[in-house]
Amino acid sequence: MRLDKLLSNMGYGSRKEVRQYLKNGAVRVNDETEKKSGAIINTDKDSVTLLGEPVVYREFIYLMMNKPQGVLSATEDSRDKTVVDLLSEDFTHFNPFPVGRLDKDTEGFLLLTNDGKLAHNLLSPKKNVPKTYYAHISGEVTNQDAEDFQNGVVLDDGYKTKAGELHILKSGETSEIELTITEGKFHQVKRMFEAVDKKVVYLKRLSMGPLSLDEALPLGTYRELTNEEVEMLFRTSTT
Ligand code: URA
Repeated sequence: MRLDKLLSNMGYGSRKEVRQYLKNGAVRVNDETEKKSGAIINTDKDSVTLLGEPVVYREFIYLMMNKPQGVLSATEDSRDKTVVDLLSEDFTHFNPFPVGRLDKDTEGFLLLTNDGKLAHNLLSPKKNVPKTYYAHISGEVTNQDAEDFQNGVVLDDGYKTKAGELHILKSGETSEIELTITEGKFHQVKRMFEAVDKKVVYLKRLSMGPLSLDEALPLGTYRELTNEEVEMLFRTSTT
């Protein structure tokens, strides 16, 4: 990888700013001053320092966010705030994007990464990665609804859903449920309840694959996944 690209990818400034560092002799590669921005670096072998500090190269980042309502699951938007707007510059220079979408009014577990291959695998319909949601439903949710979800319900566009696991936590005028589905159709949970004449009034994603929302994360905050969590995700996405 080019030296200027490596330094700017790692957050040391724009390509222009990085070139200035190089010109000033602030960058050393394997203990020799390197001034050429196009110098090719082997990220496995070469050691790079900037102003005496080691530059540690990382290609991918993996973040878990507790998405708040009112924020779009997108990287940019001309009107609304996006989940990427909630990240600090320490992470935005990696160009992360959300893996799949939560609606603007949905809260909870959202994975952000710049690892396109992992994201693709996790979202692939073939992988059947389970996602569990907690919801408040206007209307009395019944065992019949649970049976219907198990058998698959027909959405407004004629699509029949795969089996969903519905647990009724509280049934009444407003019900509380947990639902696990293995697909990610547009507005899927809301449309599944519409298919049984009920309305989702609050929706929060609790988990995706092997990972559950870290309850210590307040809404709107995020943290990096641990190595163990990343490995768990990889195992899910490759089996
Ligand atoms: N299903 C929905 O209806 N909305 C979401 O945000 C996620 C799943």
